[in-house]
Amino acid sequence: MRNLKGKKALVTGAAGGIGQAIVARLQSEGVMVGGADLEPSQADFSFQGNLMNAEYCDGLPGRAAEAMDGLDILINNAGIITRGPVTQATDGDYQRTMAINVEAPFRLCRAAIPILAAAGGGAIVNTSSCWGMHPGPNHPLYATSKAAVAALTQCLGMEHAHQNIRVNAVCPNEVNTPMIRSGFAQRGLDPDTAIKELNASVPLGRIAEPEDIADVVVFLASDEARYMCGSLIEVNGGKPVQ
Ligand SMILES: NC(=O)c1ccc[n+]([C@@H]2O[C@H](COP(=O)([O-])OP(=O)(O)OC[C@H]3O[C@@H](n4cnc5c(N)ncnc54)[C@H](O)[C@@H]3O)[C@@H](O)[C@H]2O)c1
Repeated sequence: MRNLKGKKALVTGAAGGIGQAIVARLQSEGVMVGGADLEPSQADFSFQGNLMNAEYCDGLPGRAAEAMDGLDILINNAGIITRGPVTQATDGDYQRTMAINVEAPFRLCRAAIPILAAAGGGAIVNTSSCWGMHPGPNHPLYATSKAAVAALTQCLGMEHAHQNIRVNAVCPNEVNTPMIRSGFAQRGLDPDTAIKELNASVPLGRIAEPEDIADVVVFLASDEARYMCGSLIEVNGGKPVQ
């Protein structure tokens, strides 16, 4: 039913908290995975590089298709979080946030779509955030970047469905990964204690683990989501953005 066996996927942020779980879940479904990250990953093929480099992004889907002898799935998972009020944001903060969170997915979608179309179709899963759909306090650059990813997903979902390319996005709330843990550490808090407190704020009783998000990503990439195009799927344990 999932029909993923033998497919070829490119996953960005493959060495990160959610990325590692996506790579493992795809591999367990029989998918060959190319991982793109600053760091090495457990993917079958590694395309290490910096997503702030336009040439690297533009060439990545083609390199992945060549190395794996095809490309069916693109997962734009890499991202960074930028915290603090807009009055304290530097030009560098803005450029880095938009380059990694928005421009890289744009470049990767632009390069991947003709490859997927030539193969008869495929799936793209972007990573937005609940914070891109319902902005919360103190993260204006992050929320803006994730709202852009949501809009990109909705546009491409409509515009490339006729090529049998489904573009959807997962929108997590808080997930137990280095991204969230580093924020606590920077504020001088013990990440384990802070996450315990955060767990109490979630109606389901805990923040997400990376696998909770990876399962939804893999579903969106699979034939089980065959009629979904341009959907933004919130995965939040029942917790609104606060
Ligand atoms: N953790 C959360 O609470 C949460 C919530 C909502 C959405 N998200 C989104 O989920 C995605 C994955 O986040 P995560 O929590 O796994 O974060 P993470 O920090 O654990 O992983 C992010 C990965 O992206 C890679 N990366 C960052 N900048 C890069 C660059 N310039 N070039 C190449 N690779 C780069 C990092 O090396 C890292 O491996 C992100 O898009 C994030 O915004 C996370």
